[in-house]
Amino acid sequence: MGNNFEFYGCDAAELAREYGTPLYVISNDAVRARCRELRESFTDRYENTRAVYACKAFLTQEICRIMKSEGMGMDAVSGGEIYAEVKAGMDPGMLVFHGNSKTKAELIQAVETGVGTIVVDNMSELELLNEIALEKGAKPGILFRVAPGVDSHTHSYISTGQLDSKFGFSIEEVENHAAKAAMDMEGVDFRGLHFHIGSQLHENDTHVMAVKIVLELLGRLRDKYGFKAAELNCGGGFGVHYKDDPETPGISMFVDPMMAEIDSFYEKLGDERPMVTIEPGRWIISDAGITIYEVGSVKVNGAGKTYVGVDGGMPDNPRTALYQASYEVVVVEKPDAPKDVRATIAGKCCESGDIIIYDADIPAVERGDHLAVLSTGAYNYSMASNYNRLCRPAVVAVENGEAHLSVRRETYEDMISRDL
Ligand code: LLP
Repeated sequence: MGNNFEFYGCDAAELAREYGTPLYVISNDAVRARCRELRESFTDRYENTRAVYACKAFLTQEICRIMKSEGMGMDAVSGGEIYAEVKAGMDPGMLVFHGNSKTKAELIQAVETGVGTIVVDNMSELELLNEIALEKGAKPGILFRVAPGVDSHTHSYISTGQLDSKFGFSIEEVENHAAKAAMDMEGVDFRGLHFHIGSQLHENDTHVMAVKIVLELLGRLRDKYGFKAAELNCGGGFGVHYKDDPETPGISMFVDPMMAEIDSFYEKLGDERPMVTIEPGRWIISDAGITIYEVGSVKVNGAGKTYVGVDGGMPDNPRTALYQASYEVVVVEKPDAPKDVRATIAGKCCESGDIIIYDADIPAVERGDHLAVLSTGAYNYSMASNYNRLCRPAVVAVENGEAHLSVRRETYEDMISRDL
């Protein structure tokens, strides 16, 4: 005690004792600081802009309330996300609904709920949405998702802007007929374009490249059809620090060069520039979260490698298995001890790929010690599963040095509650 690892003023060993492990811990202060930076460096700095939190990174009722109080919009990529956001009190007008394969039921839900922006992915969705809206007497604002044909430097599973992508319209399709079709539809208010080129990007060059391509397309739509966009949504994808990456950059590094391109394009054109939207997910929440585990086994295997087994694994953090992500880890009871053991931190599932961290340098640990894996705020809780019937961990929020339960731990009973 006393020397334990602290996370935003809370002793991690005490959190483990009080709430059990594995445990997700989110610093509301850190989340709010990122929202503040978004205001200072983007929405207050540039007129007619907005920031929308991509909730797929981490979604709880509490985070929705925080986003609402910070004046953020939120995105959604399913009826379930829309439901959760509205239930938490988000204004539906501030929601942006994405998806490459939205169901009819989801489109009806979005129209009936009054979702502010629907990002249309393809022609059949456009036609269906128009029909639904006409039937309901609504006229939702829509953007087209376009694939700008930019290959971002990231893991191929989270790269989305290339030509051969499952997401969005091709530039040609928008230019040749989709934009005109949308302009002529009575049921939709065609407001502009959206792109999202990939996630966990550390450089701004691909965002800038995509902006240029999309601006050129908007220029051609203006010449051909007299279309003047009301909104340009540049997606998310702003990278953060994990183990081997550079420190999380300020948002200015991404938005300033994009805004310079956009402003100069509209200045030359002599038109008012459309509203510019960004949709950060990971950048807001990743560094704000950690996962605390208890060590259950320590052994040296036949190959001479040390394995530290913990009480969670790929069900609470699938990112190492899916994207070869690498995380930093701190031994909670010995945050400052020399790291003289090289160990692989393994989950408890019946699967060799269930590893949280390969080859971490840590102080020697034993059963009962706790590990804090850093920067797990994004895409851990939101991607968690019940594989091997492990209960999904609780989420604890810390604010001003005080902790409270934000999501209770799943129980065995929860897990069989839908079985008939
Ligand atoms: N907007 C759209 C349309 C998106 O598809 C995404 C993420 C975002 C915004 C937010 O991207 P972010 O700022 O968080 O990079 N599960 C993967 C990440 C998938 C991202 C999917 N789309 C992972 O764990 O790395």
